[in-house]
Amino acid sequence: MPTFRCHSPEMGGRRGLYGIVLFFAAVLLRVQDGHALNQTCDADDLAALRAFYDGLDGKGGGASKASSPHHSPPSTTSPRSTSPGTRSTARHCRDSPRSRGCGCSISAPTRSPAFPSSGGGGIFFPAIEVLNVSFNEFAGPHPTFPGATNLTVLDFSGNALSGSINATALCGAAPLSVLRLSGNAFSGEIPAGFGRCEVLAELCLDANGLTGSLPGDLFEMPGLQTLSLQENSLSGGIDNLGNLSQLVHIDLSYNRFTGFIPDIFGGLRRLESLNLASNGFDGTLPGSLSSCPTLRMLVLRNNSLSGEIALDFGLLPRLNNFDAGTNKLSGAIPAGLAWCAELRKLNLARNKLEGEIPESFKNLTSLLYLSLTGNGFTNLSSAMQVLQHLPKLTSLVLTKNFHGGHIPDELSNMSSLEVLNFAHNNLTGSIPSSLSKLNFLSRFDVSYNSLIGDIPTGGQFSTFSNEGFVGNAALCLLGNAPLCKCSICRNRK
Ligand SMILES: *[C@@H]1O[C@H](CO)[C@@H](O)[C@H](O)[C@H]1NC(C)=O
Ligand SMILES: *[C@@H]1O[C@H](CO)[C@@H](O)[C@H](O)[C@H]1NC(C)=O
Ligand SMILES: *[C@@H]1O[C@H](CO)[C@@H](O)[C@H](O)[C@H]1NC(C)=O
Ligand SMILES: *[C@@H]1O[C@H](CO)[C@@H](O)[C@H](O)[C@H]1NC(C)=O
Ligand SMILES: *[C@@H]1O[C@H](CO)[C@@H](O)[C@H](O)[C@H]1NC(C)=O
Ligand SMILES: *[C@@H]1O[C@H](CO)[C@@H](O)[C@H](O)[C@H]1NC(C)=O
Ligand SMILES: *[C@@H]1O[C@H](CO)[C@@H](O)[C@H](O)[C@H]1NC(C)=O
Ligand SMILES: *[C@@H]1O[C@H](CO)[C@@H](O)[C@H](O)[C@H]1NC(C)=O
Ligand SMILES: *[C@@H]1O[C@H](CO)[C@@H](O)[C@H](O)[C@H]1NC(C)=O
Ligand SMILES: *[C@@H]1O[C@H](CO)[C@@H](O)[C@H](O)[C@H]1NC(C)=O
Repeated sequence: MPTFRCHSPEMGGRRGLYGIVLFFAAVLLRVQDGHALNQTCDADDLAALRAFYDGLDGKGGGASKASSPHHSPPSTTSPRSTSPGTRSTARHCRDSPRSRGCGCSISAPTRSPAFPSSGGGGIFFPAIEVLNVSFNEFAGPHPTFPGATNLTVLDFSGNALSGSINATALCGAAPLSVLRLSGNAFSGEIPAGFGRCEVLAELCLDANGLTGSLPGDLFEMPGLQTLSLQENSLSGGIDNLGNLSQLVHIDLSYNRFTGFIPDIFGGLRRLESLNLASNGFDGTLPGSLSSCPTLRMLVLRNNSLSGEIALDFGLLPRLNNFDAGTNKLSGAIPAGLAWCAELRKLNLARNKLEGEIPESFKNLTSLLYLSLTGNGFTNLSSAMQVLQHLPKLTSLVLTKNFHGGHIPDELSNMSSLEVLNFAHNNLTGSIPSSLSKLNFLSRFDVSYNSLIGDIPTGGQFSTFSNEGFVGNAALCLLGNAPLCKCSICRNRK
């Protein structure tokens, strides 16, 4: 049978708490260990919960009765819970304020029931404050809670709800601070009406089928901290984003937004993450991004951004993930990036950048991942003289850049390297045998260069497949004749 967990707030420890275990005919209403119902969970609420369950059972039919009393939440079996959108959503959509007040989280192992409602689409659930029915299989339109004047947290993520969203109805009576409808099948436009959600702090509508442009009054929620709309088909511009001055997390990735990224970040003093990946944004990087002292994550991958990377990185000391890959950015890599001492991931692959890797990059001592694939960088030798100083670098991807040069000896100093990709660089000379010192190297790719000579033996080299060496006419894998096509190799043997 379904388990209703009615949990109330962080009421410090067990002291002074009372546990209730109430058995209804078919309902187990259980107070979790160490938690108790707040006073607001009074007899009326329990009655409402019971009525709610009865509604559920009526719609859910035999399936619920057949399941075991210890049924675990069915979340992991929901196909949507494994979609990329929902997964990444969870990151921001989880650090919400802790649920307060009388709440209810439900594991209902019933198959696609409509959410119970008492006619007119609304549920009379008077004193409810938290309703979390995420990762179940509720289908049909989203319910509304007309009488619930204290409802602050509503989480319907990962169900199969469909139809359009009615913001007016959801926020009409309730002082919602968290609204999560991610990972459902909602369609249509994001409606006007969010202006009524005056105290909303978190809005997550990811991984639905929403279309159209953002309504004007979406930008009238003065306290909004998390706006997560990834993986829909939303379009138009985002010019008004600057009105949401309290934003901490913005994720608009995998939509169809277009136009310039507005230069409004000077007003977003609390911003920690901005993800605009995989849209149709063009124009230059807005300079005001440098005014976000708390910015940690800046992901602009897969747009059509152009111009130089003209940000003042000295003002972004917290930046740890900068991903502007697959754009049309040009010019040199800014030496100032090295001021971001916490930078762990840097992806500038597939742009039109050129020049050498700046000397200052020696300071990027936290860097774990660097990809510069598909640019016009020059001088691999000077690049490696810089990069060898990065003690934590585990992934180095430098394909399709250098058009010549030798594989530098300095590489063997990079003892943390796990992935090294130098494919398509027109490199000449041989592979330094010192590379067999790299104990953690698990992927090595120097394919499609002009390398000659023996492939080192020993160390990790005994584990690499030939794929990483193909396209080098004169490279000779000892003991592996098929790759030894050239006369140089044969002569050596
Ligand atoms: C709802 O419950 C799920 C699973 O227990 C949890 O991950 C999520 O954070 C909860 N939602 C809210 C708003 O607290
Ligand atoms: C019960 O909830 C109310 C309202 O959320 C709160 O003011 C009160 O402090 C809570 N009581 C306890 C004992 O936590
Ligand atoms: C809402 O919360 C307030 C304060 O805790 C309480 O007095 C009131 O009765 C609650 N409203 C309902 C409908 O339960
Ligand atoms: C949204 O809900 C309100 C009342 O809750 C209703 O008056 C309105 O017609 C609904 N809007 C749509 C588009 O269904
Ligand atoms: C955004 O703020 C500007 C200036 O404060 C104001 O003129 C504009 O109407 C606001 N736009 C929205 C959609 O709230
Ligand atoms: C890049 O973005 C487009 C939409 O603008 C999307 O269709 C495509 O799948 C994205 N590519 C990758 C590799 O994410
Ligand atoms: C790099 O570090 C050196 C000394 O550790 C310092 O003098 C220099 O200003 C730093 N440069 C950058 C761009 O971080
Ligand atoms: C490449 O860099 C090295 C070391 O900084 C330097 O000695 C050499 O002249 C450079 N080569 C070219 C072609 O600029
Ligand atoms: C590769 O190098 C050879 C000789 O060094 C040169 O002739 C050829 O043009 C280069 N190809 C590319 C694509 O840089
Ligand atoms: C890096 O490698 C070069 C060439 O193998 C060597 O001469 C140099 O001492 C090494 N530097 C460090 C810091 O280990």
